[in-house]
Amino acid sequence: MATKSELCLIPGPSEPPVLGHTLQILRDSYGFQQECIASYGPVYKVKLLGIWRVNLCGADAMEMVLLDKQQMFSSKMGWQSLARLFPGGLMLQDFAEHRQNRRIMQQAFRASALQEYTEQMAKAMQSLVRAWPLDQEFRFYDAIKELTLRLGCAVFMGLPPDDELASEVNSALIAEIRAALSVVRYPVPFTPMWHGVRGRAFLRNTFRQMIEERRAAPGNDFFSQMCLSTDEDGKGWSEDEILDQFNFLMMAAHDTTATALTTMIWALGAHPEWQEVLAAEYEEIGDAVFTSDGLSRMTQTEQVFKEALRLVPPVPFIPRRAISSFSWNGFDFPAGTTITLNPGVTMLSPEFYSEPEKFDPARFAPDRAEDQAHKFAWAPFGGGAHKCIGMHFASLQAKIFFVTLLRERRVELVRSSVTDWQRLPIPKPKGGLLVKVHGIRGH
Ligand code: HEM
Repeated sequence: MATKSELCLIPGPSEPPVLGHTLQILRDSYGFQQECIASYGPVYKVKLLGIWRVNLCGADAMEMVLLDKQQMFSSKMGWQSLARLFPGGLMLQDFAEHRQNRRIMQQAFRASALQEYTEQMAKAMQSLVRAWPLDQEFRFYDAIKELTLRLGCAVFMGLPPDDELASEVNSALIAEIRAALSVVRYPVPFTPMWHGVRGRAFLRNTFRQMIEERRAAPGNDFFSQMCLSTDEDGKGWSEDEILDQFNFLMMAAHDTTATALTTMIWALGAHPEWQEVLAAEYEEIGDAVFTSDGLSRMTQTEQVFKEALRLVPPVPFIPRRAISSFSWNGFDFPAGTTITLNPGVTMLSPEFYSEPEKFDPARFAPDRAEDQAHKFAWAPFGGGAHKCIGMHFASLQAKIFFVTLLRERRVELVRSSVTDWQRLPIPKPKGGLLVKVHGIRGH
């Protein structure tokens, strides 16, 4: 890792003793970053969790690092904090090794597989949404996490949402995710990391037992697809590779989707007229809502989805480590420089977006297309070799959820539409976003 003296020519705020800038970043990551950009420009250094990191801000920086034409930036080393619980996941691999494994995983995301997942999600969604109480307040964030985990058991593992194993898998996965994002990095008894390591062991055992069974009699779920997937040369994964890749996939899919759906509900609750716009869109598409044609016609839903991800991206910062020295924007950086990219603040930039803090889905309509001003003006899914492989799946899931919800329900925010977001490590609404759902037309 590059040291402070190696980065001495890079500007940045003065270093507070002991914790560096950690507290300022945890307290208000966006505000702190915006102040730094205003004071030092798009390149500056900070010390977070004991490591000196160079922030390369803006769409040009993302383009240079994520497209990585000369293979200089390691995702594996950037995401090292995930390595204990999720070794071998796609983001924890680089270059040729990553390319080969991504080709295999891509099989589980081919169009025909997505169509199968759509049908399964549509089938399971209604009873999950109908289980929410009517006219009573509840914490939406908690409810959607529970819903997406239960749905995930069906779509990812082919288990009925109320299967007993599904509950155990859910608890283990929650423990793992909590540990991956926790500050204590060693499995000291009873810390989140300790629970996470135990959760990982449980999941590996459970998934291992499923491999033989699914290879012999595959279902339409992700796990079966990953047991069967091969690249063009017919190479598939060993048991251990399936376990690592699947475990990582579940983690990558879960909290990100929960945050995206929560942001959409927050925005639609604050702007109820958009609930009517979406409901009318589904009405017009009619019985075709769950076909690929129907889903592709949901342009207003797509715009709301994009706007929610712009305002509260589930992955607001993307880390990388330079494996060779490089220069950018007039500065030289040594090999080993830890880099932070900032899609979150970039997507709030007035350089690309008019009234950037405002919820305005129509900015994505063809006549405005504000996101098209730069390849990385809108980048909640990253870009380049590691661009989110689940992007279309996430959009499908959001559409299926909102069709199911808004055909029968309307959402009201309780108390206030002003919600404070905890941005790190994955954004969530402070207080969990209290809502009430109400039935419509006799539902
Ligand atoms: C709205 C929801 C989601 C957001 C905002 C999101 C965001 C991202 C981002 C920014 C990356 C790239 C990180 C980097 O370059 O370092 C990524 C990678 C990834 N995502 Fe997602 N994601 C979402 C949903 C999903 C879902 C639903 C799945 C699986 C079904 C998924 C699976 C993955 C995987 C496997 C990778 C690693 C790809 C690679 O390294 O080649 N994500 N995601």
